[in-house]
This record gives sequence, C-alpha cells and structure tokens, in this order.
Amino acid sequence: MIRNHIKSDFPIFSYWESRGKPLVYLDSAATTQKPLRVISKVEEYYSQFNANVHRGTYELSQIATDIYEEARSKVARFINGLQPESVIFTRNATESLNLVAYAWGLNNLKEGDEVILSEMEHHSNLVPWHIIARHTGAVLKFIRMNHDYQLDLDSLRQILTAKTKAVSVVHVSNVLGTINPVKEITAIAHDAGAISIVDGAQSAPHIPVDVQDIGCDFYAFSGHKMCGPTGIGGLYGKYDLLEKMEPFLGGGEMINEVFPTTSNYAKPPYKFEAGTPNISGAIGLQAAIEYIEDLGLKNIEEHEVALGDYAAQRLAEVEGIRIFRPHATGTGVISFTIDNVHPHDISTILDAEGIAIRAGHHCAQPLMRKLQVQSTARASFYLYNDRSDVETLARALEKAVAIFSPRKKANVLK
Ligand code: ALA
Repeated sequence: MIRNHIKSDFPIFSYWESRGKPLVYLDSAATTQKPLRVISKVEEYYSQFNANVHRGTYELSQIATDIYEEARSKVARFINGLQPESVIFTRNATESLNLVAYAWGLNNLKEGDEVILSEMEHHSNLVPWHIIARHTGAVLKFIRMNHDYQLDLDSLRQILTAKTKAVSVVHVSNVLGTINPVKEITAIAHDAGAISIVDGAQSAPHIPVDVQDIGCDFYAFSGHKMCGPTGIGGLYGKYDLLEKMEPFLGGGEMINEVFPTTSNYAKPPYKFEAGTPNISGAIGLQAAIEYIEDLGLKNIEEHEVALGDYAAQRLAEVEGIRIFRPHATGTGVISFTIDNVHPHDISTILDAEGIAIRAGHHCAQPLMRKLQVQSTARASFYLYNDRSDVETLARALEKAVAIFSPRKKANVLK
C-alpha cells in the first residue's frame, strides 16, 4: 500500500489555490507535479556543483561529470537496462522516438519496407515515422484496436511480412490507459526479423518496467511525467544497435575526431548527446527515481489501478457519460465524454471547482477518429491523488451535466 500524506511532499499543493479552492490536479498524464526532494536537488546542483560535464580537467567539472553519469546509471538500473551506456539522455520521449526514427530509420529503411505502429499511438510515435517514410519510401501499417480498447495481436500477425523492419508501439495509452502486451509484441516482431520500439512515456512513471524482460530494442520515456524536471528524458537502446547507428545531432562532445570536411564519432551514448546536456535535469530525474523507488513502483501501480477502477465506477453514475477504458486492464487514466457537453466546457466548469483535467485530442487524432469523437475529457490520476479527488470530480461533473440540462439547470442555479 502507498503511504499516507503524499500531497505534503509536493509544495504546489500547499501553495496553489485554484480559483480559490484547493488544487485537485488530475492532469498527470500531461505532466506530474514535482516533490520538494526533486526541486531541492536541482537547486543544490546549481548552488554547489554547477560546471560543464566531460570537458573540464578541474575538480568541479569532474564532480559534475560524476554526478551526471551517476544519474545515467540510476536510470539504467530503474528500467533494468544491461549497462549505463545503453541510456541516452534526451529532452523527452518525443525526442527519443525521433532519435530512433532518424538515426535508425533513415539508414535501415528503403522503399517498400514496412514499419508497424498501432491505432492508439500518440503523435510522437506517428509523425516522426511519417517524415522518415517520406524520405525512404517505407510503408506504415497499423495494429488494430478491438472494442475493449486493446490491441488485436492477430491483426499484428496478419500484417507482418518479410518486409517488416520495425514494430513501434505505445506501452500504456495516454488516452485509454490500456497496458499493451509489449513483451509479446516484441517476441512477434523479433520472430519476423523486425526490431521492437516501445514508447514508455506513460509506463515508466506508473508500472515496473524491465527492458530486458520485455526484450525490446528501444524504450523511450520522459522525466517530467515521473516527478522529474521538464526537458529531460531518455532512450534505452541495445548497445550493438546504438553502435551501428549514425548520430542524430552533430556538434560538440559527440565526436572522436573532426577534420575540415569529415568527422568520426564517439561511442554511444555520447555519440547521441551533442552539445551541453541537461545536467540539472538528469540530476533531478535521479532524485525523482529515488522518490518513486522509496514509495515502491508496485505500490504506485496498485494505488493507481484501485483509484482508476473506483473513478470508472463512480463516474459511470454521471448521466450521459461515456468512458473509454478497457475492462480488463486499466491505469489511472480515464477519458470520457458527456452527452451534449463539449469536453472543453467540461474542463472549464471543472476549473471553476479547482479541478485540472485535460480536454482535447490528447495528441492522438487518429485514435480520436477511431473512437468517432473529436475530443474527450481526460482525468489522469497519480500517486498523490486519492478517493476524495475522485469524489470532487464526480460531484463537479454532476454539476456540469445539470448546467447543460435545461430540465435540471433551474434547480442547480437556485
Ligand atoms: N502526452 C501528454 C498528454 O497525454 C502531453 O497529455
């Protein structure tokens, strides 16, 4: 079980009153709040250890380098990566997925080759492949989603061919909360001779992740969705693949030798970290991982699943609601629509009650079309939320329904 009084670890909950009411923050799939421990660690780095890394021979730079590299080791252990050198620091999961698409895709795909994605991808696992497909002539195919918002693995088996070179899927959907069977998907991809890429932006913060057990070739994640600072994320890649790949960005620190017209490159991960990296971000991310590990990822997962189940059950009582969530697996993400109330109106009414949710297409327009909606409202719960947040949300939604129902409006506004 997760321990009590988690909100007090996060300064924002005592600082911020939303519309004069205590903040009910239900937008953690967009970004999570930050515990004091992370904020203090970043401040400590800038106050006591700030210097550039991998460049200076003076003591301060060496200390900064050591703590930056310690953060890399921490990330590798967190996802059970084989070695720290398999972890590349990036800005976020989006940049990690772009890195794979460009640095692997441009050199390994040719006309007619196939990349398989799924019908529930975030734009960050779609648009980079659109660009690479345009450059290479590769073809994109999609694993179908069934009526219970789960990926249909038979459809994956049907679309795989000898030309399939990569299968890239989201681990946990940012809209549906579906946990996809990425280990099975990876095995199917490997049997067909394709590589497997996993978008872990919504899994690393919420469920234990073991990249060796999954067996994937690449795993992308963001720091800011797991209590860490914005602007830091990572890409795990199998080292032999990373070694064979061309760089993504060129510049300082990613080189071995540079001549006027040519250059050769450093070994991974440095080959993929051009320029001064986000040192404070990496250190903040390490503090975030330590915070999460102290709470226990299993505890976090259980807490969120229980809260998600309770929210789905409680919200089902709201008149005209439609919830988009699988029956069997669910996380703390609940997307919904309400008859005759636009998701943006829902969000505005909730805001007046101090509740922060996201409304829109959630960077998943193809999925919205599949669901036959333009947008949804989405409440996403994290380790600091509790049942009282669900109650506040449910009551505010009942109010929204009443405001938009002429029959009930008079009573509510009395
Ligand atoms: N991908 C983030 C979300 O789902 C921004 O809100």
